[in-house]
Amino acid sequence: MTDSNNLLETLLERVNASDQPHEVLRAPELRAMADEIKTLPPEERAGAGRALNELKQALAAAVQEREAGLLDQAVVPIDVTAPMDTNSSAPSLLPVGQGTTHPITREIAVMSDILQRMGFQIFESRELDDQYHMFEALNFPEGHPARDDYDTFLTVETDDNGDPLIAPAHTSTMQNRIMRELKPQLEQGQPIAAASIDRVFRNEDLDPRHEHTFYQHEGIYVDKDVHAGMLVATLKTFLESYYQTELSVRVNPFYFPFTEPSFEFSLSCPFCKGEGCNVCSQSGWIELLGCGMIHPNVLKAAGIDPEVYTGFAWGGGVDRLVMMKYGIEDVRHFESAKLEFLRQFK
Ligand code: DAH
Repeated sequence: MTDSNNLLETLLERVNASDQPHEVLRAPELRAMADEIKTLPPEERAGAGRALNELKQALAAAVQEREAGLLDQAVVPIDVTAPMDTNSSAPSLLPVGQGTTHPITREIAVMSDILQRMGFQIFESRELDDQYHMFEALNFPEGHPARDDYDTFLTVETDDNGDPLIAPAHTSTMQNRIMRELKPQLEQGQPIAAASIDRVFRNEDLDPRHEHTFYQHEGIYVDKDVHAGMLVATLKTFLESYYQTELSVRVNPFYFPFTEPSFEFSLSCPFCKGEGCNVCSQSGWIELLGCGMIHPNVLKAAGIDPEVYTGFAWGGGVDRLVMMKYGIEDVRHFESAKLEFLRQFK
């Protein structure tokens, strides 16, 4: 009768030497041992069967361990910025099992979940839009100086008016569409509560705080008798839920064409609790986003009567929120495709 300990030793050696370790699970010796058991006297079969099962279990565990090791080895030599080395025998693609969710994708899901629980319906935004939604519908008429605050990317293709299409520079492009779509609901007495979290583009000079491609979150709320206190309370609740800590907030007057009054919204630094640290440049406050009461012209452009309804809106970076949550010092990490960075967010 085959000695199961000896056989295990032989097969383990084979597992550790193999690139396809699971093939060892089909080793002919295992089948031979099973056949051998059938020929044993009945009183010896149970013991021999148990020994074979134990051997198989130990082997399966070793195979699993070896496969995990091979996967790790496979990803170490990959430098995504290097030209492809076609002479290398190492796998040139990252095994699917080693992939991780991008931190921005993951945090967008967290933010969407919080907003949904607060009653906001989520709308997907666009990566190519027209000048109407980027500017006109938001009360920036043609020639308005505030258009220059948004250094946009334009395409050579044009819309129906002959204007170039635009890579949206903010998620506010969705406001008009959302309000138009949800207007019937408003007229039946239900507020419009919607948010959009998506990618935006600006022709920025890149530095640790500026990227040409980044993410924004946008929220709008329209109903009868909406006031600025509701805006502040909504943002505070959202941010406290995201940072899982109590926050003090501050609003300062600001200017946006699409809100009146407009505010810059700051929160007490969640790291130093307002004492002053590197994240908040020792000020204790972090300017986080823009917001305000939706301008009557923006409501009108969506067919909503500003004499009857009022609303608030806010918009700001996602990357910024995520950087603050995890102490990430440079926004450019997000689009860098650096695996050492991305793998920290399993
Ligand atoms: N869209 C603005 C920006 O990117 C941010 C913003 C400000 C959005 C005020 C809003 C708002 O909805 O009400 O600069």
